Amino acid sequence: MQQLRKFKNLLVTGGAGFIGSAFIRTLLKQDFSGTCVNLDALTYAGNLQNLTEIQDDSRYIFEKGDIRNQALLEHLCQEHAIDTIIHFAAESHVDRSIHGPRNFVETNVIGTFNLLETVRLNPHIHFHHVSTDEVYGSLGNEGTFIETSPYRPNSPYSASKAASDHFVRAYAKTYNLSTCLSNCSNNYGPYQFPEKLIPLVILNSLQGKQIPVYGKGINVRDWLFVDDHAEALVQLIHYGKKGETYNIGGETELTNIDLIHQILSHIARMIGKDENELKNLIHYVKDRPGHDLRYAIDCNKIKNELKWSPRHSFSEGLRKTITWYLNNTEWLHALTGENYQEWLSVNY
Ligand code: NAD
Ligand code: DAU
Repeated sequence: MQQLRKFKNLLVTGGAGFIGSAFIRTLLKQDFSGTCVNLDALTYAGNLQNLTEIQDDSRYIFEKGDIRNQALLEHLCQEHAIDTIIHFAAESHVDRSIHGPRNFVETNVIGTFNLLETVRLNPHIHFHHVSTDEVYGSLGNEGTFIETSPYRPNSPYSASKAASDHFVRAYAKTYNLSTCLSNCSNNYGPYQFPEKLIPLVILNSLQGKQIPVYGKGINVRDWLFVDDHAEALVQLIHYGKKGETYNIGGETELTNIDLIHQILSHIARMIGKDENELKNLIHYVKDRPGHDLRYAIDCNKIKNELKWSPRHSFSEGLRKTITWYLNNTEWLHALTGENYQEWLSVNY
């Protein structure tokens, strides 16, 4: 086991989003006696209902604000005596980055740069950067991404995340800051905004709507249950080595079409519906431009160094996820904003 990093006051950016909120819920279930400050701009993807379970916890503070505002970052770090930052805030959807890349540069690159500047001015702060396997580009049928794989981003989203990763590395080297980076594969689970494939398939099938499959449905993703990612991150802020990168993956590679078939079989069984009727909703559409064929993660480093492994099998995680969407119609009804409705009518 690595040496324990002790911290007291943690700043979480993007904690009202899908993974950030899972991280906060996980952290506060543990024996943590400091303060957890959640800074989130509440964009279309941020939702305070993701945190109702912990909103009254005395260790938790919410601050509405934007990581593009560096003065605010410095103020918050002083005000709350922050000693650790974990950075989730980002524009996270590839399709949106293709339609409008500017926000991705502003939030993902400039926002991360602002945070690093804040750490440069307050070098006692440890900085953990949450990133993606998409920075490594696309694999053919063979091979896996390792921590030293070259960066070959193919979408404006992954290019913006790659740029932010490079800034983290450069700041750590040049200014001798305490940083750590993790690159994770596709997450799924409760509270995921239904622009992403898994919640989109669940919700469209429940509502009898078409399920858009890009291209031939042969692209491969590696799927990780979000709570397993959150547990890895809690371990990393305690034990991740300064200056290191860790890949995090679910060891569950599936083509999109196989994944969709699995979701539809689960749903058919769970709600007592004919599986073939649900499969008739599958609708092949024009491919995503620059669509990465395959992602696959080798996560042996974190498994060996931190004794972390994904705890949920895919079938278990999927069952939990579908059950959550079936039981949380109130959360869904709140997502009726224009941005969501407009987005659902976008097609390539
Ligand atoms: P999300 O889109 O669900 O949430 C992003 C959060 O960031 C939202 O709460 C939003 O309000 C907030 N935010 C956006 N711009 C902001 C700004 N300028 N200032 C402050 N807050 C802002 O994203 P997610 O899926 O939870 O992803 C979180 C992080 O994990 C991202 O950095 C993403 O790149 C990375 N990641 C995601 C996945 C995945 O499968 N979803 C996989 C690997 C890595
Ligand atoms: O790999 C990690 C990345 O995973 C994260 O960094 C991103 O933030 C996250 O959005 C996710 O990116 P993907 O592009 O892989 O996820 P998405 O859910 O958008 O798409 C998954 C696959 O499904 C991809 O091959 C595109 C395809 N797809 C997606 C949608 C929304 C469809 O075929 N139809 C769809 O309607």
